[in-house]
Amino acid sequence: MFRAGGRRPGPDERSSRAEQAGETTRPGSDPLQAPPLSVWATAQRSSRAQRSGRYLAASMAHPGKMLPAVARHAIRHYSRAQDVVLDPMCGIGTTLVEAVHLGREAVGIEYEPRWADLARNNVGAAAARGARGEADVLAGDARDVTRLLHRRYHGRVALLLTSPPYGSTTHGYVSRTPEGRITKTDHRYSRNRANLAHRPLPALLEGFTEILDACRPLLAPDAVVVVTARPYRRDGRLVDFPSAVITAAADAGYRMAERNVALLAGIRGDRLVPRASFFALHHLRDPRRAHGHHHLLVHEDVLVFVAR
Ligand SMILES: C[S@@+](CC[C@H](N)C(=O)[O-])C[C@H]1O[C@@H](n2cnc3c(N)ncnc32)[C@H](O)[C@@H]1O
Repeated sequence: MFRAGGRRPGPDERSSRAEQAGETTRPGSDPLQAPPLSVWATAQRSSRAQRSGRYLAASMAHPGKMLPAVARHAIRHYSRAQDVVLDPMCGIGTTLVEAVHLGREAVGIEYEPRWADLARNNVGAAAARGARGEADVLAGDARDVTRLLHRRYHGRVALLLTSPPYGSTTHGYVSRTPEGRITKTDHRYSRNRANLAHRPLPALLEGFTEILDACRPLLAPDAVVVVTARPYRRDGRLVDFPSAVITAAADAGYRMAERNVALLAGIRGDRLVPRASFFALHHLRDPRRAHGHHHLLVHEDVLVFVAR
């Protein structure tokens, strides 16, 4: 992974900070320093290529998956073998699959039974491919996390890694029918209006704050909370969703310890090669913005928090 400053670290530096012998520093443990920043080169292969042979094909129908390379890097970097890794909004189980491949114990909650089943099946497929860790998946509302999760997890979660649902205008696959019509598929999490994905932004953020707050009794004393979130465009405007997540985490009693940038573009030599979705390109072409300067978004924020 690239560090800020463009230096490519050697293999030892790439291995987990937690795994480096004798290292005890917690992210952001020096209150006088600005949060450190790293750039993670996590898009050297497309999302589909990263999943191929590792996730069941049905996973592609989920509209807002985390990049496996982002999850893997976060788990390596912020947890140790046999630690408990929690994803309270686990979707099709990217966090869990990558965690069990790295020998962690994982547990996930997902509101939609359809995605929870798929997460379970993805974890089963990982076990069949030799993953050593184990994972539990529960269907339910993560605001009830302490009731849903067995007491054995309480106080033991070393890493909470998750991404809230957002930016539904940017989800899905676009294709053209034989009659020439443009259609959009796989852009919904469900038709359940109670899913936070379907709530207006303030209600979604309120729900996310409640989830982060509810997770606190589960965390080990030196636990790290990692949230991935992308800025996105809606109706011609840039929505600074990562800043909204930072506010939600602060409201739930967490302090930001690192702010990282996971690239959604490949790197070829000294150039970024964007893997822009239909929606990203569409938003750029919108005539309402023809007069201004607009850029393709080629990153997502990886926000790292610790309990205050
Ligand atoms: C951005 S997706 C997470 C995707 C996941 N990281 C993956 O790679 O599959 C957010 C997920 O949160 C789920 N969700 C929404 N409200 C929830 C709630 N109250 N409790 C638990 N999960 C919820 C959605 O159904 C969606 O699958």
